[in-house]
Amino acid sequence: MSSKSTFLVAGLAVIALTASLPLMAQQGQGKGGGQNKGQGGGGQGGQGGRKKGQGGDKQGQGRVYPPAKSAWSIASIILGNGEDKQISMAIHPGVDFDGYIEYGPEGKSPSGKTPTQSFKKGVPIQLTLTGLKPNTAYSYSLNYTEAGESKTGPKYRFQTARPAGSTYTMFVQGDSHPERMGKMNDPGLYEKTYQTAAAYNPDFFIMLGDDFSVDTLQNRTAQAVEYCYTKQVPYMGLIGKQAPVYLVNGNHEQAAKANLDGTPNSLGVLAQNARNRNFVNPAPDSFFTGNPEPVEHIGLLRNYFAWTWGDALYVTIDPYWHSDEAVDNRADGGSKRKDMWGITLGDTQYKWLKKTLETSKAKYKFVFAHHVMGTGRGAVERATSFEWGDTRSLANKRPGWELPIHQLFVKTGVSIFFQGHDHIFCKQELDGVIYQSCPCPSDTTEKLINGDAYTVGDKIVGSGLVKVTVGPDKARIEFLRSWLPSAETEGRKHGEVAYSYEVKPKVNK
Ligand SMILES: [Fe+2]
Ligand SMILES: [Fe+2]
Repeated sequence: MSSKSTFLVAGLAVIALTASLPLMAQQGQGKGGGQNKGQGGGGQGGQGGRKKGQGGDKQGQGRVYPPAKSAWSIASIILGNGEDKQISMAIHPGVDFDGYIEYGPEGKSPSGKTPTQSFKKGVPIQLTLTGLKPNTAYSYSLNYTEAGESKTGPKYRFQTARPAGSTYTMFVQGDSHPERMGKMNDPGLYEKTYQTAAAYNPDFFIMLGDDFSVDTLQNRTAQAVEYCYTKQVPYMGLIGKQAPVYLVNGNHEQAAKANLDGTPNSLGVLAQNARNRNFVNPAPDSFFTGNPEPVEHIGLLRNYFAWTWGDALYVTIDPYWHSDEAVDNRADGGSKRKDMWGITLGDTQYKWLKKTLETSKAKYKFVFAHHVMGTGRGAVERATSFEWGDTRSLANKRPGWELPIHQLFVKTGVSIFFQGHDHIFCKQELDGVIYQSCPCPSDTTEKLINGDAYTVGDKIVGSGLVKVTVGPDKARIEFLRSWLPSAETEGRKHGEVAYSYEVKPKVNK
């Protein structure tokens, strides 16, 4: 399919302003493990910034992750699980304090607050605000006591679920790879890119994996794994303070079935518990569907889930937790699996995916994963093989599966499959399904990395974010380029739209 490139910046979503008063329920308190010296805890608000370069320490095992320059020294807040009547948040204190969340409909005086509780530096606490009104913008602040004096934190906003017919914006981010600082991640540009996304007031933000790489740690201890997660907090807080963040599992996270050994200290357990302790991700409830199967020493994985927002269905899928063998690289350095049929979503996830796609009446269906098959390079080049696309072998290899994943996408009218892993912006199409590969957010090297793997489609050099504006008549996808100030020129500005296209609603099949 030919693509039309434009250089327009879409308008922002319109927000309604009425609300009922919510109640608050505490979801649970973090179990510690994240108190690494020198890591800072701030994330947003423009207060108490730390100097670049202060973030490195021995627990990073040679890795240096400078905190965001605009870090808020009191706490980072990262929203998650935005629903119609409730929203959750992970609060990451940078210091010890007593505090509470005060909130209310945007533009009005605060009308509710949570009970005051004690927060400890480095110990994330997850809260859920309940009783919210759908299709409503709220504002909130974390208020706290400092040296006996009551302080009001910065005021942030969030949006509850939109009804069909709404126009809104969300963002997709490819592999951030903060552990590859200087090669694939520039901290200053990473921060700037998050701030650019925040300026659009997106309803939510999806990260496609390879954001918490634990495989190259010298010693994969609980503290070191935790460090990989907490070091992202100041950055993610720049967008997470106002937009629920959803995590897709990547190969470098090593949150995988192949990394279980029956003990609570296996790498798979350490990685997934760090994900679920530091960030809020959906478990099945009245708003989200997802993985219902608990795993020993973890509980619910929260690794695949789906929800409807406005006219679009959002579906995240994950092969890593459902394949017996390592899908991609192994943390222990061992050899990869030999048989690509060993990579699978598993029967339970496949049945859920099929039901989710078949029963949705949404005008747009968007599916997100780290990569086709979770490994390899390219997108449509990989979409006709094994359980993703091999119709001839499916009955033998996957008894009970009606169709491979790609053919299921075609049949059910999936609009776009979003993936990361290849660190490239490329738009392809196969049988009417767009395969959208997403770039790194802050790679300054300006190379068309993995470009040779993409034999068709439109490839764009550079890093940035993929912005999606969904409306009742069309969805617009835009590649917003990221540039350091030193790299900007007269015709090359940070945040510019480097490529865009539109998709129309599909007839439900
Ligand atoms: Fe990857
Ligand atoms: Fe990656």
